[in-house]
Amino acid sequence: MALVKYWGKRDTGLMLPKNGSISMTTDGLFAHTTVEFNPSFKEDKFIFNGLLQDTTTDAYKEYVGFFLGLVRKMTKNKDKVKISSNNNFPTAAGLASSAAGFAALAAAVNGALGLGLNEKELSMLARRGSGSATRSISGGFVEWKRGEKEDGTDSYGEQIVPPDYWQDFRMLFCITSLKEKKVKSRAGMSQTLKTSPMYPGWLSTVGEDLNKVRQGIKDRNFTVVGRTAEENCLKMHSTMITTKPSIIYWKPETVKLMHAVMDWRDDGLESYFTMDAGPQVKIMCLEKDLEEIKGRVQKLGITEEIIVSKPGSGVKLTGEHLF
Ligand code: PMV
Repeated sequence: MALVKYWGKRDTGLMLPKNGSISMTTDGLFAHTTVEFNPSFKEDKFIFNGLLQDTTTDAYKEYVGFFLGLVRKMTKNKDKVKISSNNNFPTAAGLASSAAGFAALAAAVNGALGLGLNEKELSMLARRGSGSATRSISGGFVEWKRGEKEDGTDSYGEQIVPPDYWQDFRMLFCITSLKEKKVKSRAGMSQTLKTSPMYPGWLSTVGEDLNKVRQGIKDRNFTVVGRTAEENCLKMHSTMITTKPSIIYWKPETVKLMHAVMDWRDDGLESYFTMDAGPQVKIMCLEKDLEEIKGRVQKLGITEEIIVSKPGSGVKLTGEHLF
């Protein structure tokens, strides 16, 4: 979950960002993926949350199909593949499902084909599936370096601190709607880049936010990290809102929660919010205030579900296979 957002690409093919970003890898939301390449398979099969997916759709071709094409080009492996992937949280609703999904897929492919990629190389592979996945290979707090090179070899995720460095940092995922969003982040960011008059403003201040959040994490300074993350999220949304046609990912419940967090803060209960390309509100707080904040969110009666997370580990290979 991004604290300083990635919003806009400078190279869509190589998936290179206009700006660096920082996220927290969360322990509460994950993707579990099994991959098998086998010369006896007749066709590629992709099973998502237990359901066999249609591999002829544009959505499949743009995401999983594109990624597999890349892997085949890179490894010269022509075998058909079977992939099964489960998320333990709602998909395409602004909960970073593509970050978890492509980080897990890259790691599973690396294991299945014995590619031996290290964390940095894995991060660059995951980047090609979905930008946000670049950061989700590593655990704890992670920075995706923008990089300068045209070939993208300096654009990857790097851990700032491991998960146990900041044990009492909490994020509450307040799920206000389980519907899939209408505009995917990929389409949303490309449209913003082309038409929002606010986009140059976004780019001109994101470097300062990165410095503040990076240092704030190292200092475990909750006020600096929370405040900067909230401001950064609002700046990103201002570019979306002012694009043509306007993209407003917020629902009335989203705005209600934003106001609630600000009011609680005025009362001395310190918490901050952030939202991605969707209506869900993620509230950042410290462990000591978790129960109070969770109780207040529940009392509002506008959430479908609340998932509490702390900094979690990055990708790992397990012996638990889905088939
Ligand atoms: O990588 P994508 O296409 O899922 O884009 C992610 C965009 C945001 O979630 C809005 C911001 C971010 O940094 O994760």
